[in-house]
Amino acid sequence: MKDIETRKQRALKTTMRLMAAHRETGNFESLPWPRTVIDRETKRLKLDLRNGDIDVEYLEKVVRRSFRWNTGSIPFIPDEKFELLKLLRTNASMASFEAHIRNGSELETQIIELANSNLYKGHSSVSTIRNAMVRLGMENLKFLIYQTVLTRTLFKSRQYDEWVNRLQFKAIASAHFAREIASWIGYPATEAYMAGLVHDIGEPYILQLFDALSVDIPDEICIQTVKQAHMETGASILRRLNISPAVIAACESHHNLSGLNQLASIICAATDQICLFLDLLPMNYWDITPTKLPFRMLGINEEDTEIILVRCQDLMDKLLT
Ligand SMILES: [Fe+2]
Repeated sequence: MKDIETRKQRALKTTMRLMAAHRETGNFESLPWPRTVIDRETKRLKLDLRNGDIDVEYLEKVVRRSFRWNTGSIPFIPDEKFELLKLLRTNASMASFEAHIRNGSELETQIIELANSNLYKGHSSVSTIRNAMVRLGMENLKFLIYQTVLTRTLFKSRQYDEWVNRLQFKAIASAHFAREIASWIGYPATEAYMAGLVHDIGEPYILQLFDALSVDIPDEICIQTVKQAHMETGASILRRLNISPAVIAACESHHNLSGLNQLASIICAATDQICLFLDLLPMNYWDITPTKLPFRMLGINEEDTEIILVRCQDLMDKLLT
């Protein structure tokens, strides 16, 4: 009996070690729900695909199910990164963020790189995480941690690689566009930036989920599912990160302008219009028509809207260089 227990414990330890190793490499085996569940879903989906039973509503249910197994985490986000994201919503000191970041990790390198990028660079380049943090300040540091962790965990896909890369750039650009719009209407920059960054976070999540399920879903159904399910999915992710209610509301309602009076949602609808204007995603992907309505709803007149568009074009050029 004792022997069996020991073997079990050893097997468990090995599994835990393997999981940790997979997480380090960003391997898709690092799913925070059991592999058996993924296999079961895959089998079911493949059978339904063969029978022609698969549709957008069914896939929406699959996406919803993916949140059920581990309520204390977010699928695809490793636990230590999930904890770091939650820490961002506290009044933790810069030293405590430094302790999380300063370990020679990918995140440390990325934050230093971003501090030296066109948007944040100073007179001289920085080479240590402490100097990068001093340059960025607490607010920018938090933004960049969100941006870096989310883009490195949720914006990943083997099957939909090109699509996800475009979504990633759109998310980062939208954050900057939202902050620009906020400055014209006196809306808090932090909240606008976050709303811009994460309002479509459900989209790459759904694509990565389909990836993990290893089923070949027809493109049209895949696009429709992403369009219909990304608001609710995104809100489920943001609730687990304890993100502010205004940003969660923006995620849930940015495609529904009728009767909308929540500023963060309208700002996100306006950033989508800018992204459409700047051609950040292919036309067949958009389910919105070009309109200046969100700007009017924010009280921004036609002339100022044109200036904002030019400024956003400039921001995008900086992000691309
Ligand atoms: Fe959206």
